[in-house]
Parts: sequence; structure tokens; C-alpha cells
Amino acid sequence: MCSLLCPDLFLLKTLAGSQKVETKPRIAFGDSYTYVQGTHGHQNYSFIGDQFNYAYDAQTLPSDMIVQNQTATAEGGPNWIEYLTNCGVQPGITSPLSCKKQLWDFAFAGADISTEYTPLHHNFTVSLVNQITQFKEYGHATISHILPATDTLIATWIGINDVGDSSKYPVHFPTFYKNLTSTLFTSIDGLYTLGYRSYLLLDLPPLDRTPGNRATSTPHPNATQVDWYNDALRSGAELFAKRRDVEVRVFDAHARLNGIMDHPGQYGMVNMTGFCAGYDQPDIELNYEDYGCPVPLDEYFWFNSRHLTSHVHRILAEELDEWLQG
Ligand SMILES: *[C@@H]1O[C@H](CO)[C@@H](O)[C@H](O)[C@H]1NC(C)=O
Ligand SMILES: *[C@@H]1O[C@H](CO)[C@@H](O)[C@H](O)[C@H]1NC(C)=O
Ligand SMILES: *[C@@H]1O[C@H](CO)[C@@H](O)[C@H](O)[C@H]1NC(C)=O
Ligand SMILES: *[C@@H]1O[C@H](CO)[C@@H](O)[C@H](O)[C@H]1NC(C)=O
Ligand SMILES: *[C@@H]1O[C@H](CO)[C@@H](O)[C@H](O)[C@H]1NC(C)=O
Ligand SMILES: *[C@@H]1O[C@H](CO)[C@@H](O)[C@H](O)[C@H]1NC(C)=O
Repeated sequence: MCSLLCPDLFLLKTLAGSQKVETKPRIAFGDSYTYVQGTHGHQNYSFIGDQFNYAYDAQTLPSDMIVQNQTATAEGGPNWIEYLTNCGVQPGITSPLSCKKQLWDFAFAGADISTEYTPLHHNFTVSLVNQITQFKEYGHATISHILPATDTLIATWIGINDVGDSSKYPVHFPTFYKNLTSTLFTSIDGLYTLGYRSYLLLDLPPLDRTPGNRATSTPHPNATQVDWYNDALRSGAELFAKRRDVEVRVFDAHARLNGIMDHPGQYGMVNMTGFCAGYDQPDIELNYEDYGCPVPLDEYFWFNSRHLTSHVHRILAEELDEWLQG
């Protein structure tokens, strides 16, 4: 297992002459770890639309606002991509257009990569493949008037639901994950065609260390499965970087999150194993003790059974920002 000092830098290729990556606006895709609530979104799930409200016109996207409050992310507060862009972090509503580093976030909570491999969590869920198709059909034309594709970073964090949902499949997992990530990169390649040249991917968190998985001798997914998926993601990214004129970065979120869990004191964290039962109560910030929690949410690693606290997202975003500049 990697420590904080392990050489996790993984930049596959840099293009000459483009705007520095740390200043580029971001377009994001993914699942609940990345989704932000939009005023034109499906509450608790998306910034814009859903699988039944898939099409939107040229006025809808620019007038959409990022909501920030206790229920507007899956973390009870800002998530990694909001911290990374400093867009939508303040409570209330924020137009991405007003941000110095704009964030256009099409992640959908509960998303997997494709129904080719795993079923939808809800019938309105927009899978990763469909997020990208939807963006190509309705988002890009509008966004390209606001941001040049060549100066935009495509940030994707996905696979978390996939490895969970498929963990008991009777398959040869390394091959299955190779197929999954191959579909992921085929989908991402559709953005290359539109002119996007800069890509950031985050690998899987140590999902074998969720509160539920720690409590059992047979975690789903287990550490080997997480490693296999992450290997497949890296191989897929390498192939994409070889085939196309793109810069691709894979951030080792796995190592960073293990590093936080293994050295909680350095980050002001206390509880790496459980989560506070009252995490979704409106008064949890002040009255955590009323819910049997000895420390505030900020000192927990896990927000609930499957999600990281907003504090962990902030640490991760800080480390990612430094890494992007490095
Ligand atoms: C969103 O989540 C909140 C808090 O869990 C809940 O009260 C609300 O009903 C949910 N909204 C929808 C549309 O599901
Ligand atoms: C968060 O903001 C949304 C949209 O304004 C609102 O519907 C929801 O009730 C708010 N939730 C909380 C906990 O304030
Ligand atoms: C989606 O699922 C919900 C709940 O299971 C169901 O009530 C609804 O009819 C479904 N919608 C469509 C269009 O299939
Ligand atoms: C992976 O994809 C190949 C080619 O489509 C297929 O033959 C194989 O059954 C798949 N394997 C798994 C484990 O999903
Ligand atoms: C994890 O699960 C896979 C698939 O069932 C299995 O091959 C592997 O040995 C398991 N790893 C550990 C550490 O239990
Ligand atoms: C972690 O938090 C859970 C839930 O509040 C609690 O049951 C557990 O005792 C805590 N563990 C430690 C080491 O503080």
C-alpha cells in the first residue's frame, strides 16, 4: 500500500502551448462524489435534467445555478470539484458564469458507466455514457460559445458504483474492468472529436475500507478488485494518450485517501472507521452529540456508509490542486 510519499504522479502527456491546467475551467462527469445540485437539476441528483428530461435548450444551461447547502451534495457540504474550482462553495446559489474558474458539472448521483454492464440505480439515472452523449447533443454547442474547448479541462470521477454493483458477478474481474474502462474511454473519445484535449481522471477510493466493508471479512468490493479496476483505468488512459493528441492526467485519489486514513492526526481527523448516525439532520453541525457522535462531522472520514465527508473532499482538492500545479 502506498504511503503519502509514494510516487503517485501520473501525467501521461502534456501538450505544448495550451493554457496552464490549473487555470482552465472545468467540465465534470461522474457520480454522487462529483454531482452538484443545479436549479435546473433533479434534486439530490444533478445540475441539469435527468434521463426523462434529457434535452435542454440554449437558454437553460447558462441560466442554471449551482446550489450549495446541506442537501445539495452527497457530502453535506462542498465536494472536491467545487473546492478545486472554488465555484459554488459559498452557501446559496452561484452561477458558474460568475466563477473565475468556471465549473459545468454534469455528474449524476448514482451513475455507473453504462447499462451494458450494470443496471441503473433509478429509471431517471443518467449513466456516464449518457452524460457525455447528452453533453455532446445539448451542452457543447452552448458551452463552446462560453469556453473554447481547447482551453477546458474534462474532469471525470466514475467507477465507484460500478465496482460495488458488480462485485459479486461471476466474471473474470480484470477482464470485466478492462471492458468497463474501455467503454469509458470510447465515450470520452467522443469529446476529443469536439475539440477537448485536456483530461483529468481520478481513480477509485479505497472502497474496501468503507464502514460496512471494514466490519466484514468479505468486503464488496475488496482491495484486490479496487486495485484491478484502477490498473484497468490507467491502462485505458495510457492507450487514449497514445492514440490521440491529448493531455491525460490520472490522479491517485486512492493513495491520497489511504494516506489520510493512515495518518488522520496530520489532517485533524479522528474517526476513520464509522460515520455519525445523524449525518443528515439539519442541526448536525452544532448538535452532533445529540446523535451519539463524540466529534463533529468534520473529524469523520466517512460522511455515511458510502460517501466521504466534505472535509475529506477539501483535503483531496487541495492535494489535487497542488499536484496539477506541480
Ligand atoms: C432530497 O433529499 C432530501 C434530504 O434527504 C429529502 O428531504 C428530499 O425529499 C429529497 N428530494 C427529492 C426530490 O427526492
Ligand atoms: C437547499 O437548496 C434547495 C434549492 O434552493 C432547496 O430546495 C433545499 O430545501 C435546500 N436545503 C436545505 C437543507 O437548506
Ligand atoms: C420510474 O420508476 C418509478 C418508481 O419505480 C415509477 O413510478 C415510474 O412510473 C417510472 N417511470 C417510467 C417513465 O418508467
Ligand atoms: C469483455 O469483452 C469481450 C469482448 O466484447 C467479451 O467477449 C467478454 O465476454 C467480456 N468479458 C467480461 C468478463 O466482461
Ligand atoms: C477479492 O475478490 C476477488 C473476486 O472474487 C478474488 O479473486 C480475490 O481473491 C479477492 N481478494 C481478496 C484479498 O480477498
Ligand atoms: C467512530 O464513529 C462511530 C459512529 O459515531 C462510533 O460508533 C465509533 O466508536 C467511532 N470510533 C472511534 C475510534 O472513535
